Amino acid sequence: PNIALIKYWGKRDELLKLPTVPSLSLTIDNLYTQATIEFSKELDEDNYVMNGKVVTGGKQLERISQHLKLIREVANGSCDKGIIARVIGKDNKKCSKDIAKLRAKVVIENNFPDALSNSSSNFTALTIAACKALDMRINNKEISMIARQGSGTACRSMFGGIVEWTKGSKKDGSDSFASQIHDNKHWPELRAIMLILDPKEKKVKGSQGMKISKETSPFYEQWTKESEKDIKDIKAAIKQKDFSRFGKIMESNCLRMHSIMISSSPSLIYLKPETLVMVEKIKSLRENNLECYFTIDAGANIMLLCQEKDVEKIIESLDGMPFIHDFIICSQGEDAKLYDEHLF
Ligand code: DP6
Repeated sequence: PNIALIKYWGKRDELLKLPTVPSLSLTIDNLYTQATIEFSKELDEDNYVMNGKVVTGGKQLERISQHLKLIREVANGSCDKGIIARVIGKDNKKCSKDIAKLRAKVVIENNFPDALSNSSSNFTALTIAACKALDMRINNKEISMIARQGSGTACRSMFGGIVEWTKGSKKDGSDSFASQIHDNKHWPELRAIMLILDPKEKKVKGSQGMKISKETSPFYEQWTKESEKDIKDIKAAIKQKDFSRFGKIMESNCLRMHSIMISSSPSLIYLKPETLVMVEKIKSLRENNLECYFTIDAGANIMLLCQEKDVEKIIESLDGMPFIHDFIICSQGEDAKLYDEHLF
């Protein structure tokens, strides 16, 4: 998974999942997603097991099946949606036309609680595995561009360290892609503490919420302008390893995204009272010389960013806060990769 330091909230193209804003994330270690996939002519439909549970219907299965359909079309060269489908499709045309008839068995496992489950790492893992299973000649940038069409943020999970996803302006998406701007050795002291306050799933999914915001928030256009500036500023802070500047930009970008959510119609209030108590707590830690900053996605849980030297003291100060269900300390992770151990 990755944590957005500068957020993606809105699409300029719903089908290709091209963003209205550039975003920047940190890929985390300790938490990971594994996927195994097998295509077969014998199956009548796609089968999907997620964290040990068979998914029999609903939006989740629909989204996975849609994505598998896209990958099959790219693999047999019958898809022309977006640049990457065209380029890879051309290169892979040799693949048998029978690919369209194949159905898949997919098993995905996360080593983290459902409360933290975001679609990003699921779609990244699924895409890498599927492209390999179909023997596609494809590089990581291209895999990332396909993963994006499953879930926007998935394109960032392909790479380790600090990753930027450019907004681009071309209709076919050829200039909107994720790439690593620093590997995990550039700023190894950086830590992310995931604080799980609400173990339940959010009601309004990110993709639905960002569409509502783009269509209805009166401040949406301003948000897109400020995001461009935030990306530039945070990249400079990361390059210089200026933690204070980094944290301030990250927090203000996050709060701006939540102001866009709140000012949407109907309003999208993902923050819970506990979230706001934690925001105050983090501010008070800072006043007491424990420098840390927060970021929050489309949910109530908090990601606290700090430096290695302060982790222990921060954890001590959070001890006893009643609504923290769990916490996980992470450093920066590496690129997503293929390996030989399978889930079935
Ligand atoms: C709030 O990737 O879930 O986490 O592209 O519609 O699948 P879709 O959305 P998703 O984006 C959620 C965005 C966010 C902020 C971020 O991670 O940048």
